[in-house]
Amino acid sequence: MCGIVGYIGFRNATDVLIDGLRRLEYRGYDSAGVAVRTPAGLRVVKRSGKLAALESALKEEHLEGPLGIGHTRWATHGAPTDPNAHPHTTEDGRIAVIHNGIIENYLELKEALKARGHRFTSETDSEVLAHLIEEKYQGDLFQALKEALKEVRGAYAVVVAHEDHQEIVAARTVSPLVIGLGEGENFLASDVPALLPYTRRMVFLHDGDLARITREGVEVTDLQGNPLEREAVEIDWTLEAAEKGGFPHYMLKEIYEQPWVLENTLGGRLREEEGDVELGLGLDPMAIDRIHVIACGTAAYAGWYGKYLLEALARIPTEWDVASEYRYRDPVVDERTLAIAISQSGETIDTLEGLREAKRKGARTLGVINAKGSSITREVEDVLYIHAGPEIGVASTKAYMAMLAAMAMLAVHFGRRRGILSKEEAQRLLKEMRKLPRLVEEVLEKRPLIAHLAEKYHQAQDFLFLGRHVQAPTAYEGALKLKEISYIHAEAYPAGEMKHGPIALIDEHLPVVVLATKGPLYEKTLSNIQEVRARGGKVIAIATEGDMEIGKLAQDVFHVPEVHPLLAPMVSVVPLQLLAYEIAVLLGRDVDQPRNLAKSVTVE
Ligand code: F6R
Repeated sequence: MCGIVGYIGFRNATDVLIDGLRRLEYRGYDSAGVAVRTPAGLRVVKRSGKLAALESALKEEHLEGPLGIGHTRWATHGAPTDPNAHPHTTEDGRIAVIHNGIIENYLELKEALKARGHRFTSETDSEVLAHLIEEKYQGDLFQALKEALKEVRGAYAVVVAHEDHQEIVAARTVSPLVIGLGEGENFLASDVPALLPYTRRMVFLHDGDLARITREGVEVTDLQGNPLEREAVEIDWTLEAAEKGGFPHYMLKEIYEQPWVLENTLGGRLREEEGDVELGLGLDPMAIDRIHVIACGTAAYAGWYGKYLLEALARIPTEWDVASEYRYRDPVVDERTLAIAISQSGETIDTLEGLREAKRKGARTLGVINAKGSSITREVEDVLYIHAGPEIGVASTKAYMAMLAAMAMLAVHFGRRRGILSKEEAQRLLKEMRKLPRLVEEVLEKRPLIAHLAEKYHQAQDFLFLGRHVQAPTAYEGALKLKEISYIHAEAYPAGEMKHGPIALIDEHLPVVVLATKGPLYEKTLSNIQEVRARGGKVIAIATEGDMEIGKLAQDVFHVPEVHPLLAPMVSVVPLQLLAYEIAVLLGRDVDQPRNLAKSVTVE
């Protein structure tokens, strides 16, 4: 949550900060602000609302200087107002602080600081950091931050500038921070895409790291002041990949990137001849008796899909949980349990904490992750990168696709290694997986049909999504996409469960999207469609190419290409992503930055 950018060098910091914040606005867009070290001292401009509000304020109040810090906020403590926007300053305005995360003991700290004469101007937890640093400051900003953090409990990425110092100091615990290395200039950000126009050489700070960033270099220590070596990583994401490339929204661009993403994820990993997948994992699949999949939101639905495949192809008992529940349910874990954390950002705090809980109880760990160098990748024994490239649209699409592909590969790999899946069956699946990029391409070509459906149904107040077995997660993902970006109420159910309650919702006003692709449960799904029709509901069926019968039951049918039933979710989710997108556009919603959401959720 919240985007952070810092700059020190020879350019005008304001330009770098605004440019970086624009690339990070998906992390939060309740307010934005910058602090720049100008010849007249440290100057702050901040505004509630989107970045555009800050940009117009900066036209009035021009800030020029080679050092600055900037922030775009996703509100946790305090409403999205001007005073609550970051940076926060001390009363004399000489220290400016931006913060991402939550200071758990801020009330206690605030009362103590007030008692010592500090005056606060915001309702945020973050402002205590500025006052604490001021108290500790004796001429060394780095030292002051270190001392201040000793009193702080919680999660933070904190970045500090001081009027008298040619340096930015920063620290992180839980919330991510990355330093971009340049020549005669250095950068800082909460996320890689902010820095891609300037550098690809990045240093990822770890939990408990403090950094002093000057024009010439970077110094990293732990909270005790012991120097630490942090290796620079070369990032292979291109700038073009992080920009819209001619599409009106990042979400649409990312939906259209899915064939390429599948090529990338499956890449050189499929070994059709041997009937195996090469994942480069250290993990011995024979050393595990059960799997716990931990993730949130869209990633959790990919985990649910993974459960079906891991059980079907590798016969490993697999549990699937949303991470915020897993962590507190005291799961039964032993050293033969494999905990798999799935995450696009690799920073989702619920997922990270769920993983830590499994680790504490002795589990082996694997991350299925998109963002290289992210927190989860550093805490797991093995990482399976999904290689989806930067995902900027707040509603996840291409990362979901890549996660499904990764889970399918994992299941084949485990199934083969455990002697459950025959070479022939694996070969058949891998051959089908190879076709996926082309099949997804075919679905994308039929976007006008989805636009037509959107036109027909965009006035609906509610939607229901139904699917069975591997298509149950697809139904949930379809409903999540729709509610996230169109704000239409949407519910999802496993189709067989509908008759146990949700059927009461059905009337002639309710569009019901049914995943009815060919597979072992096709007939059962048809019965569910009959149940909806009998009660006047309007059925939009996602069916397999060539299935003409279904047209007799459903008002609308969208055909997807035929593929192995276990892989059908990868072609079926695409029309649902497009439907959500087209409806949101028709309703005039902000597709890339839907209200109340943030891309990377680093608070619990
Ligand atoms: C939905 C969405 C969220 C994320 C969830 C997990 O479109 O984007 O539900 O899937 O917050 O995020 P990651 O994958 O970064 O852990």
